[in-house]
Amino acid sequence: MDITQPLPLLGGLSPQQFMNTHWQKKPLLVRQAIPDFKPLLDRAELFELAASEDVQTRMVIQTPSATAGWHFKHGPFERRALPPLKQPGWTMLLQGVDLHHDAVHALMNQFRFVPDARLDDLMISYATDQGGVGPHYDSYDVFLLQAHGKRRWRIGRQKDLSLQPDVPLKILANFEPEEEYLLEPGDMLYLPPLYAHDGIAEGECMTYSIGFRIPNRAEVARELLQRLAEDAEEAVGLTLYQDPDQMAVAQPAEIPSRMLEFAKDALRDALADDQAFGRGFGEYMTEPKPSVWFEGVEPTDGLAELLNQTGCRLDRRTRMMFDAQHIFINGESFTASGRDAGLMRALANGRQLSADEVGQLSAQAFELLVSWAESGWVLPG
Ligand code: SIN
Ligand code: CO
Repeated sequence: MDITQPLPLLGGLSPQQFMNTHWQKKPLLVRQAIPDFKPLLDRAELFELAASEDVQTRMVIQTPSATAGWHFKHGPFERRALPPLKQPGWTMLLQGVDLHHDAVHALMNQFRFVPDARLDDLMISYATDQGGVGPHYDSYDVFLLQAHGKRRWRIGRQKDLSLQPDVPLKILANFEPEEEYLLEPGDMLYLPPLYAHDGIAEGECMTYSIGFRIPNRAEVARELLQRLAEDAEEAVGLTLYQDPDQMAVAQPAEIPSRMLEFAKDALRDALADDQAFGRGFGEYMTEPKPSVWFEGVEPTDGLAELLNQTGCRLDRRTRMMFDAQHIFINGESFTASGRDAGLMRALANGRQLSADEVGQLSAQAFELLVSWAESGWVLPG
């Protein structure tokens, strides 16, 4: 992607300009971000996904306030379990639809001017007239693309983030909207984290939300420490504690401070191993979503031949990234250098390689590619 090229998707801003002026900073409304946009799944297809165990689905039903408001349910939902389409004020949210649908995945890929490590998923919401999830804020950035029907968004910088008590959803107690926009199919609204918003359907409505992954410090620390623990022996060795000048003690239960220093020093060494650190982080970043399950294929000679003839592409659920030393794919890491590293990086960035490029891989790297194809991570063509 040419990040200096103005894009209709960003209202004529280039990805570079958008990131400089809006990302994590201020909203952007784009009329006709995708001109003549048509929903990629119709209502029946969406309802079919909502019935699947593999899709995380939630439903929010609003009843007139006299009977106390908001109801929340977790899916999956069979078609007959849904409220009638004529009943106003309900909405259903389907998380991670990009994992299940190629065109939805391709749409999400238009936002790859943001690093893959930050891109999370594409959620689709279906709402009947007046449906919505109430005024709230999210902790992550979001692009709200109107896919079908109309939705009225009210948004604001909201200082008071207190929430309504005793409701099953996070709903702002004192929402103070500052701006209001009616979005039609193809229009899009970008909101930075913590920006308050309330979107209310006007008639039947579908909205696509491109959401972002925003790890917190405790989460990354926990993940990294766990992974570094697995490599501890290699990283810091098995040197034994020594205390030739330990004195006799009158308080035997007291832990010697020198022992604590020994432990700290070992931990510092483990953390200072940049290779292991980078490896652990990349493996963590490319770990497939918990719901993802790859069907492998039987190893045959035909597969290698096919990859050679047609090139290859990543399965839409595959996560592949790289750093200066490693290639990461679906939670595994490999070291690569020279031409192989260039080609593997091209696969991670472009999510495909031509037959010609596959032909340039070393025998070892090609073998790796074949094993990924056998795991179902990489597909021919
Ligand atoms: C929706 O699509 O109904 C809600 C999306 C959001 O507010 O983040
Ligand atoms: Co939101």
